[in-house]
Amino acid sequence: MRIVSGIQPTGNLHLGNYLGAIRNWVAMQDEWTAKGATCLYFLADLHAISMPHVPADLAANTREMVAALVACGIDPQRSVLFNQAQVPAHAELQWLLCGTARMGWLGRMTQWKDKAGKNREGASVALYSYPVLQAADVLLYQATHVPVGEDQKQHLELARDIAQKFNNDFASEDAPVFTLPAPIIPPEAARIMSLRDGAAKMSKSDPSDMSRINLTDDADTIMQKVKKARTDPEPLPGEAAGLEGRAEARNLVAIYAVMAGCDVATVLAEFGGQGFGRFKPALGDLLVDRLAPIAARFRDLRADRTALDAILAQGAARARTLARPTLDATYAALGLVTG
Ligand code: TRP
Repeated sequence: MRIVSGIQPTGNLHLGNYLGAIRNWVAMQDEWTAKGATCLYFLADLHAISMPHVPADLAANTREMVAALVACGIDPQRSVLFNQAQVPAHAELQWLLCGTARMGWLGRMTQWKDKAGKNREGASVALYSYPVLQAADVLLYQATHVPVGEDQKQHLELARDIAQKFNNDFASEDAPVFTLPAPIIPPEAARIMSLRDGAAKMSKSDPSDMSRINLTDDADTIMQKVKKARTDPEPLPGEAAGLEGRAEARNLVAIYAVMAGCDVATVLAEFGGQGFGRFKPALGDLLVDRLAPIAARFRDLRADRTALDAILAQGAARARTLARPTLDATYAALGLVTG
């Protein structure tokens, strides 16, 4: 079992990032490294240049994201934690796979269609070939399982198509070059919504800071944001069905459930019939309790650039070693003379 996943480096990390991808990565690390599997987690900085970006921000966000991942529980000893840019094999394999990926396959990707919008002629080539790089990311390490959000499922299917076609075209049946990776989509794929609007995702780009809980918020700020969160005047229902049509209430209950590690029914069994005047302080306490140690570690690490760069350098060295055999096999299968 080999687990590989990537995340684009963004700044201003918040509860949505934590409860979305990061927490799931930590759980997989804890479960699978104990059984002898290897987890590789990387910052997809090469993917980040597919859209207009500010170079200084990219560098800062890459380090900030490493600090957040470690603060949240990714252990750089047990997991291989690195950024793509320090492992040239990602870019190399991407090019090698460009001979196998088809224009038609890429043109059908919904993320490409969404991000390019109407101006396809003006979109970058990197945006178009983004999924080929993503395929390289996982095929390079013979990934068996790739934890991703629902929105990345199509890219994973493309990675399988590329692997299959490459194996068919360039390898013998008993010695395939690539493993076909399977996506793992977390069950309740915690979709955390804005505290101000139950219909919008919690986002770093929301102009109102009250809409999100940042990984750097202190206890008072967290409590204040929860108390001011938008709700309706009804008490909480006794069962999950009663949250239908009450997006804000449902979001707060969902946050409570994931933070407490229980299901929505359990939360409602405890708080059903009670108003938000009772529920919000309980939620605030829970968040402060769980996030305070993470925030403290995050703030310390973020300030220690030497430590962060050492973590990345060590992870990249391990990743380069793990990547080598597959990269060599790919060159050889294509008839490229590397000496
Ligand atoms: N495209 C992914 C996202 O935006 C990030 C990513 C890049 C990734 N390479 C990957 C995820 C490889 C899983 C495996 O979320």
